[in-house]
Amino acid sequence: MSTATATAEVTTKTTPHDAARGFLLSRLGSLFSILPLGVWTLFHLWNNLASYSGPRVWQQEVTDHGSDASTLLVSLLVLIPLFWHMIWGIMRMGRSHPELRIGWFSNVRYIVQRLSALGLLGFLGAHLYLAWFSPRFIEHRAESFRDIAAHMHHHLPTTIVYALGILAVAYHLANGLWSFAMGWGLTVSRASQNWMQTVMLILFVVFLVIGWGAEYGLYSAGASFPAPIE
Ligand code: HEM
Repeated sequence: MSTATATAEVTTKTTPHDAARGFLLSRLGSLFSILPLGVWTLFHLWNNLASYSGPRVWQQEVTDHGSDASTLLVSLLVLIPLFWHMIWGIMRMGRSHPELRIGWFSNVRYIVQRLSALGLLGFLGAHLYLAWFSPRFIEHRAESFRDIAAHMHHHLPTTIVYALGILAVAYHLANGLWSFAMGWGLTVSRASQNWMQTVMLILFVVFLVIGWGAEYGLYSAGASFPAPIE
C-alpha cells in the first residue's frame, strides 16, 4: 500500500472522540424533543384554552411575556431546540426505514411518525411566520386575539390547516414519547413497551382534545368579529 493511500485511510477513520461527539449531538436531538419542546408545546396548547375566557385572558396566557427581554428568551429557548430537533429528525429520516419483522402496527406508527414530522415542518413554518414573526417583527405587536379568532372562524383554509396541524402535533408528540422511552432505556421489556403503547394512545387522545378544544374556542369567539380583509 502506498503512503498516500495509507494516510487517506487513517484520516477518514472515526476516532472515539468523533463517535462520542456524534452520540452526544444525537442524544440532544432526542432530549430536546421532550425538554423543552414537548413540555412547552403542551403548555402552549393548554394556554390556548383561555380562548373561552375572552381576549384579555387569552392575551395574558398566550402572548404576554412581561418584557421584550423575556419574549426573546422564551423564543430562543423554544426555537433553538426546535431547529436542533428538526435537523436531527431529518437526518434520521434519511438513515432509517420500516422493518417488516416488527409487525404491521409498529410499522404504521413508524410511517405516520415521519408523515406527521413532514406535516409539522410545513405547519410550524406557516404558524411561526404568521402568528409570531410577522406580527412581532414586521408589525411590531403581538398576535391579537381578534385576528386569530376572526381568521379561524371566517377563513376555511386556516380552520383546516390548524385542525390538521394539531392532529400532527398530538400524534407526533404522543408516539414520540413511546420511542423516547425506548431509546433512553426506560421501557426495555416487551411488556413495558406494550404498556407504554396504551399510555401513548391515551395521551394522543388527550392532546388532541386539548388542541382541538382550544381551536374550537377561537373558532366560536371569531363569530363576534367581522371577516378579516385579506
Ligand atoms: C412541536 C414540535 C415537535 C415536537 C414536540 C416533537 C417531538 C418529538 C418526540 C418526542 C420524538 C421522539 C424522540 C425520540 O425518539 O427520542 C420525535 C421524533 C421525531 N421527530 Fe419530532 N417533534 C416536533 C417537530 C418535528 C419536526 C418539525 C420534524 C421535522 C423533520 C420532526 C421530526 C422527527 C422525526 C423524524 C422523529 C423520529 C426519529 C426516530 O424515531 O428515528 N419533529 N419528535
